[in-house]
Amino acid sequence: MHLLKQLTQSSTTIPKKYLHLSKQEMEYNIRQIKNQLGTSLFIPGHHYQKDEVIQFADAVGDSLQLAQVSEKNSAATYIVFCGVHFMAETADILTTDEQIVLLPDMRAGCSMADMADIYQTKRAWEKLTQQFGDTILPLTYVNSTAAIKSFVGKNGGATVTSSNAHTMIKWAFTQKERILFLPDQHLGRNTAADIGIHLTEMAVWDPIHDELLFSGNPDKIKVILWKGHCSVHENFTLNNIEYVRKQYPNMKIIVHPECKKEVVDASDYNGSTKYIIETIEQTEPGTAWAIGTEMNLVQRLINNHPDKEIISLNPYMCPCLTMNRIDLPHLLWSLESIMEGTPNNQIIVPEDIAANARIALDRMLERA
Ligand code: 13P
Ligand code: SF4
Repeated sequence: MHLLKQLTQSSTTIPKKYLHLSKQEMEYNIRQIKNQLGTSLFIPGHHYQKDEVIQFADAVGDSLQLAQVSEKNSAATYIVFCGVHFMAETADILTTDEQIVLLPDMRAGCSMADMADIYQTKRAWEKLTQQFGDTILPLTYVNSTAAIKSFVGKNGGATVTSSNAHTMIKWAFTQKERILFLPDQHLGRNTAADIGIHLTEMAVWDPIHDELLFSGNPDKIKVILWKGHCSVHENFTLNNIEYVRKQYPNMKIIVHPECKKEVVDASDYNGSTKYIIETIEQTEPGTAWAIGTEMNLVQRLINNHPDKEIISLNPYMCPCLTMNRIDLPHLLWSLESIMEGTPNNQIIVPEDIAANARIALDRMLERA
């Protein structure tokens, strides 16, 4: 659901009583409900969630891992997804009709996913296939609406996460001559460059003006990047890197590939959320790291690794605001709605959309 639409839906607003409960009361009540519901309740939590929420997660992971565990969990009737809207949609697509997926706060969207809607996608596809014929395979980052996943599935394409983007882009080129990569231009550009595609072979699709941005011979285009980005990861800059290099000459810099290419190129390592976590876990005590990713995760890594010196690459970095919408009051509200028999904020992807979206997800999951 588009962020603006969510914000104007009064039925999705938390009742005031939750705002007056103490942290201890909320934690106690959540624990009680979790005990009562047992395995009929499953709480997946994305790494970018706050600690106050993560403490109650039954599984913690990146977007790929959470898609996989949701699909495998057939025991739970209720899946209370502590992440953002597109992740809850993915869980609904991958689980059975009897399973109920809830998002504790409907305002937990993703600004990147909001940068591509299905109408823009269909317009882009029409224009691009007019120009390039049947030579394009669509790939969409999972950070996109179910409708876009469905469109991609229907047109022979697949979803991608940051931890399998290389595999999926390589696969796409076994299918067609060129790809349309939605909606994150940076993940698309960084990954395509990694597998040897030159920047001069990449164009950008501007969905606001419905135009292809490219200078040169269009026949050379191999990758068409949707002009979208993550508002969190775009905040890491070359200035941040220069500052760290000067102040902490021994520090290694590791960033997420949602960062701009110039930042990825100037860092020492780049990779998915899972890759960043594993790199920090496996590194020697006493090493020093500046991390360019979401702040809740960076703070957790700092707390979990007191034997290593860890800072955020951007000291003024904020957490992802939409991920942060999920908090103790909303988690408790969601769980109490289950106990009252009126589950709140259920995410339902209509069957006609879910069927093709599932095909796009399956093409990824069988290669992940
Ligand atoms: P991953 O969990 O795939 O690394 O994605 C990061 C992200 O921005 C999730 O919204
Ligand atoms: Fe979306 Fe970026 Fe937040 Fe991930 S970190 S949910 S991509 S805005």
